[in-house]
Amino acid sequence: MKVTFKIWRQENSKTKGELKSYFVDGITEDMSLLEALDHLNEKLVLKGESVIAYDYDCREGICGQCGVFINGRAHGPHDNITTCQLHMRSFKDNDTIIIEPWRAKAFPIVKDLIVDRSAFDRIIEHGGYISAKTGTAPEANAILIPKEVSDKAMDAAACIGCGACVATCKNSSAALFTAAKLNHLNRLPQGKAEQHQRVREMTWQMKEEGFGSCTFTGACEVECPEGISITNIAELNARNILSNLLG
Ligand code: FES
Repeated sequence: MKVTFKIWRQENSKTKGELKSYFVDGITEDMSLLEALDHLNEKLVLKGESVIAYDYDCREGICGQCGVFINGRAHGPHDNITTCQLHMRSFKDNDTIIIEPWRAKAFPIVKDLIVDRSAFDRIIEHGGYISAKTGTAPEANAILIPKEVSDKAMDAAACIGCGACVATCKNSSAALFTAAKLNHLNRLPQGKAEQHQRVREMTWQMKEEGFGSCTFTGACEVECPEGISITNIAELNARNILSNLLG
């Protein structure tokens, strides 16, 4: 297969960027998109040119590091997968594939396709944990949790923090990320003791980081590789009102 990549090149957040074209042959349908970029980078090294910077860790859809826009869609043309799970068989021979970084004020560009998503880490630092000492593992039946409650908590816990929700939202809102991280703890008995403080502090930090407000367009749910529902945001809003009332 041969394709033309149009890839965003930018030295850092202070410089201007631009799309640059790279014609690449020798690609197979079984390569992932990241492997095709590895292949392109090997060619750039041989030519003595600067390699394209892109982020990844697991390459298995787990870590959330790899997100980019591919032909205008977060993580590419398919629903419910990450960029590293996208294979070149999703494209045709001679296709042009445009690859751009996440674009949001709270995610400044580090280089080329890599953005700084540490704003998410700072939101987690404001309550995305349980601080009570847990001691040794309790007997499995000591805390009974209804199946539907644990299922809903696990659905929210599936968030991998990739940032597609922010990048695809016209307001650059982090409401889906924050809601998922809050709800998976607040739905379980272990998270209840700190639930109101967690809601207040994580939503406060979300605003501090410069993310926009949620206007409930639903774009985040569509592009989330884990299919996390925007009902999480509705629950976050309800919890926010409750937390403020309860001080
Ligand atoms: S590299 Fe880990 S989710 Fe893609």
